[in-house]
Amino acid sequence: MAGKSPQTSWIWNDGKFVAWEDAKLHVMSHVVHYGTSIFEGIRCYATPDGPAIFRLDAHMRRFHDSAQIYRMPLPYDQAALSAACGALVRRNEIDECYIRPIALRGVGTYGLDPTHSPVQTFIICWPWGTYLGDGALEAGVDVCVSSWQRAHPNTFPALAKAGGNYINAALIKMEAVADGYAEAIVLNSSGTVSEGSGQNLFLVREGVLITPAVDGSQLPGITRDSVLTIASDLGIPVREQAVPREALYIADELFFCGTAAEVTPIRSVDRITIGKGSAGPISLAMQKRFLDIVHGRTDDRHGWLTPVARGAKAAVG
Ligand SMILES: Cc1ncc(COP(=O)(O)O)c(C=O)c1O
Repeated sequence: MAGKSPQTSWIWNDGKFVAWEDAKLHVMSHVVHYGTSIFEGIRCYATPDGPAIFRLDAHMRRFHDSAQIYRMPLPYDQAALSAACGALVRRNEIDECYIRPIALRGVGTYGLDPTHSPVQTFIICWPWGTYLGDGALEAGVDVCVSSWQRAHPNTFPALAKAGGNYINAALIKMEAVADGYAEAIVLNSSGTVSEGSGQNLFLVREGVLITPAVDGSQLPGITRDSVLTIASDLGIPVREQAVPREALYIADELFFCGTAAEVTPIRSVDRITIGKGSAGPISLAMQKRFLDIVHGRTDDRHGWLTPVARGAKAAVG
């Protein structure tokens, strides 16, 4: 049984801070019935210069992209929402947290067309540790290939981070956990590798980093993009391509990456040991550089960190 979920004192709701327990929705909100929300997942890390939010601009760009795809008019531009994220972290007096901006369709008409249901925007933050379990970053995780597939392109738009998409992710995750795995890798409707339930995937073979090309079945992750940039910084060759399922079993190394999962090595797939059955050297090098950047232990050469105390001045609160 999972323990009590962590919470903080304040939630940002359409320009105001409300107490955690007062951020409520009506049961007839469109989102409750039809999954009409778009959201982001962002991490804020403790650094020697205070809390800093990782790749805030890229997350806010994707938030607005998701809204655009779903014809959801957002009343706040990227700068206002970025400022609100910083203000929320400051207000909650927290150094490290996960930040969840979400825009959803509230109470309006009850049919499928959401356009007459008002858009409500919230930003929540809370402390969230290692997503795939204690020790996962060091030891790696055991995963399976899911019996579920990702939706075909032009069904549920994978470039949008929309609430409804995650019903598929929940099926994938529940099956994996019920079968004794930490996570699952999912195939797309062509039968090649897509991603995990909530993270992207990299393989290493003969010193080359390989990741499934963006094919309309997976979320193009911001951590994935960061890994590609770090690989170029470290002089590791990269290929984005279609990845057949069996390439997983013969990889030298495998790792997941995502805001929640960070860079998590994979030590087996369907009980087939990957490499030496522990985190491989390229996975560990990527993980180290990633964690060094987010924790401010190395030069932020790409300008990925937004300090919370400076520069993130709130328009509200
Ligand atoms: C389905 C899915 N794929 C991949 C990712 C990784 O994306 P990011 O690195 O932007 O967090 C996420 C997490 O947001 C996700 O939900």
